[in-house]
Amino acid sequence: MCGIVGYIGRQIAYPILIEGLKKLEYRGYDSAGVALLCHEGLKVVKAKGEITVLEEKVGQSFPAGNMGIGHTRWATHGAPSDVNAHPHCACTEEFTVVHNGIIENYRALRHWLESEGHRFSSETDTEVLAHLVEHYYNGDLLKTVQEAIKKVEGSFAMVVMCRGENDKLVCARRDSPLIIGLGEGENFIASDVPAVLNYTRKIYILEDGEFAVITASSVQICSAECTMLQKEVREITWDAVAAEKGGFRHFMLKEIMEQPRALRETMRGRLLNGGREINLSELNLTPEEINDISRIYIVACGTAYHAGLVGKYAMEKLLRLPVEVDLASEFRYRDPLLDEKTMVIVISQSGETADTLAALRLARSRGNKVLAITNVVGSSVSREADKVLYTWAGPEIAVASTKAYLTQILSLYLLTLYLAQVRGLLDRQELEKAGEALFALPAKVEEILSREVEIQDIAAYLSCWESTFFIGRNMDFAVAMEGALKLKEISYIHAEAYASGELKHGTLALIVEGIPVIALATQKDIIEKSLSNIKEVKARNGYVICLAQEGTEDLQNEVDRVFYLPATEDFLTPILSVVPLQLLSYYAAVARCCPVDKPRNLAKSVTVE
Ligand code: G6P
Repeated sequence: MCGIVGYIGRQIAYPILIEGLKKLEYRGYDSAGVALLCHEGLKVVKAKGEITVLEEKVGQSFPAGNMGIGHTRWATHGAPSDVNAHPHCACTEEFTVVHNGIIENYRALRHWLESEGHRFSSETDTEVLAHLVEHYYNGDLLKTVQEAIKKVEGSFAMVVMCRGENDKLVCARRDSPLIIGLGEGENFIASDVPAVLNYTRKIYILEDGEFAVITASSVQICSAECTMLQKEVREITWDAVAAEKGGFRHFMLKEIMEQPRALRETMRGRLLNGGREINLSELNLTPEEINDISRIYIVACGTAYHAGLVGKYAMEKLLRLPVEVDLASEFRYRDPLLDEKTMVIVISQSGETADTLAALRLARSRGNKVLAITNVVGSSVSREADKVLYTWAGPEIAVASTKAYLTQILSLYLLTLYLAQVRGLLDRQELEKAGEALFALPAKVEEILSREVEIQDIAAYLSCWESTFFIGRNMDFAVAMEGALKLKEISYIHAEAYASGELKHGTLALIVEGIPVIALATQKDIIEKSLSNIKEVKARNGYVICLAQEGTEDLQNEVDRVFYLPATEDFLTPILSVVPLQLLSYYAAVARCCPVDKPRNLAKSVTVE
């Protein structure tokens, strides 16, 4: 996720671009850059760090050009650096590009373009776009961009500026957002509304497959077939604060709603042909290395630890290898048993958590190779690990982790299926079935999100209580732990997760009339066992809110409330079952007027022990 801004008009472009970028800093903040066209020619300035670093570098004597493009980056391909920051030029400065998204086939394209004589200066996937445009340029920027992107697999929102056609900006979109702000004698392009709100409230929303040519006085939008499109002008009524959150009241809700997209991004290039093929060649693990693994150790903190617990169930089931999951703060001080055949996996959204980093260093000091699952390119964890599997959730701002958790689980599934594939543990049909089910999950998450009102209603009940319990067996227990954590951290309601079978060993003493017990019963093969625990709670007049898969409709007679999840393979249910739990916590916290995005005493990234 990155932020794009473009301007063309009668004002001096630079301050408008900088102001817009600052409004988009929530989309990425590891480096930034601007490209300005003025009488003296093209001026490109890029800097690693926050936008203020870029401003210092430009200084007071910025060029007085009336058109330009800017970018604030959330690194995906290539660590944050001046060179990898956008905008990117081709071999000459004739073409300049800013991009948000991931070009899946960039390696092949780069190889081909290099063989055609193009010289690359960055490690980014984006730079291929600039060279592709240069390669195909035929005197018509729009047609060239249309031609160039036929070669591109992946997602993009991009803006292209051409020195020889200095009266227009051309932009295109596939799977990444882009809007056009409409002014008087000036027009704007941006990844999101906040960037243009100080200048206009009239916008077009560019849809997938659409292109736009923007001049100071006109905006033309067309399809890939060059058919001119009449788009509806939308009037933005949100205030500036709401606009930064995409119109949502809190970042947490915005991030919950972004999950289908985060899942799709994390699958991109890794789950191919509708899920029938898994490709994690990016890890550069040899078949010998994979076959050599005799044990897996997963280490993390907080929500990432809970993702690891889900990974354990999936890995033990499909790989038939022992998997241990440990809290990083425990692992680092208990002289863990590691041998050379143990694969160590650390999981960290931020890649900066002090305990996780210490655990990684400890494992490496013992001679173990460490694979990191992280969301931040260039983070300490990503730099120090031997192998990195990135989650492409985009920046997560709310302290309570949501979309990062979902993509961490997805990454663990991808890794599990990939290892199973290489170790020959699943036949082709089984692999395809699992991959296809995985591929279908984002749409199922969308369906759950569309039923938000059902959850709001349950949250109203929950919010009146000071204590709750979450129960489940196996994978459901792992998700129950995450559900309880979400609820307590943002709503301050005491929440405890128990393995359902453990209730009778103590917790049943706390079940009183009406107390909310959230029971996860998504595992069809043990549904009867889960049901008997639910009955134990009901017999003590607890209020049971159940999560189950469609197809287990008889459950509703046994519980007070039930939320049915779209059906999937049992081992994939965590990706679905946690979503209503996130919404439940969110709406309970809102009902209790809690500061959802910044709960008391907690921090997003815990960089001290
Ligand atoms: C903090 C955050 C949690 C997060 C945990 C681990 O406690 O509030 O949301 O799960 O740190 O963070 P990491 O960045 O390592 O995933």
